[in-house]
Amino acid sequence: MMRKAKKELLDTDGKSRGFYSEDNAVNDLTGREWVFWTRSVITKPYPPNMQHKLRSEHGGQKPPELCADLLRVFTKQGQTVLDPFMGVGGVLLGATLAGREAVGVEINPRWIEIYREVCENENLAPQEAVHGNARIALREMTGRSFDCVLTDVPYWTMDSAPRSRGTYKKVGEKARPVRASKLSSFGDSTYGSKAEWLEAMVEVFTLASGKLRPRGYLITFIGDMYRDNAYHCLSADLAGALSGIPSLVWKASLIWYDVSKKLHLYGYQYSYIPSLIHQNILVFRKE
Ligand SMILES: C[S@@+](CC[C@H](N)C(=O)[O-])C[C@H]1O[C@@H](n2cnc3c(N)ncnc32)[C@H](O)[C@@H]1O
Repeated sequence: MMRKAKKELLDTDGKSRGFYSEDNAVNDLTGREWVFWTRSVITKPYPPNMQHKLRSEHGGQKPPELCADLLRVFTKQGQTVLDPFMGVGGVLLGATLAGREAVGVEINPRWIEIYREVCENENLAPQEAVHGNARIALREMTGRSFDCVLTDVPYWTMDSAPRSRGTYKKVGEKARPVRASKLSSFGDSTYGSKAEWLEAMVEVFTLASGKLRPRGYLITFIGDMYRDNAYHCLSADLAGALSGIPSLVWKASLIWYDVSKKLHLYGYQYSYIPSLIHQNILVFRKE
């Protein structure tokens, strides 16, 4: 097979980014950049930006730059991304930063309102944001095809239990109250139990994968949790459930090390309780 041409790409400061091959069917990265992003742990810091304070009303928002980096790895310039759980638009903003088109779905109109306000303040043209339940909205979205699905799943009501946001909380100390808005970002009473939640996630991801082009990537953030004296490996639960979707093949579980997370000191000197400073990023491909 004839190899296509390679060309050297320069960054905005005129420094070499390495060589890009026209054989690259996945993204616009040079060989050097591709190798960098095969690392299974993302340690790059993402300082607060793009109206972080405004987006913080949500509580589960993701850094737009991180989403942009993922889109640069899994798509090409100008391709289209679907986010069925868009929140205040980390993925949609990331798509704009990376020069991709995006469509988001969000059940809570307040989060779409904030996303649009962020765009206005940042002087960005908003991407398409659909208000609705993804379980219905994706069924109604006929005739659309996407190059990638990048999302960040909601949790079931287990996650709406008030918890301390303090840096350190000794055993027996009173947990500080959490603003209701932080809880509502996750709490969706339709997911009353883990089983119902997993069932809903499989339903939404099945619909989303039906709209994904062949060989397109479906990627989701998912955090594990420590609750009620036990570790809940939700990433494993979700990966297992999504692996059952016929067209999807599980390709990677990346770790995003969130350097901004503070340590929570629970159980000191009597029981080991981890400080969860990472999130998992599950990567599937439609094959
Ligand atoms: C973890 S958050 C996403 C946060 C997002 N990555 C951001 O940067 O803001 C998940 C979102 O899914 C929304 N959601 C929950 N169930 C939904 C459903 N069935 N359809 C659409 N959105 C839903 C929640 O309201 C929540 O905003």
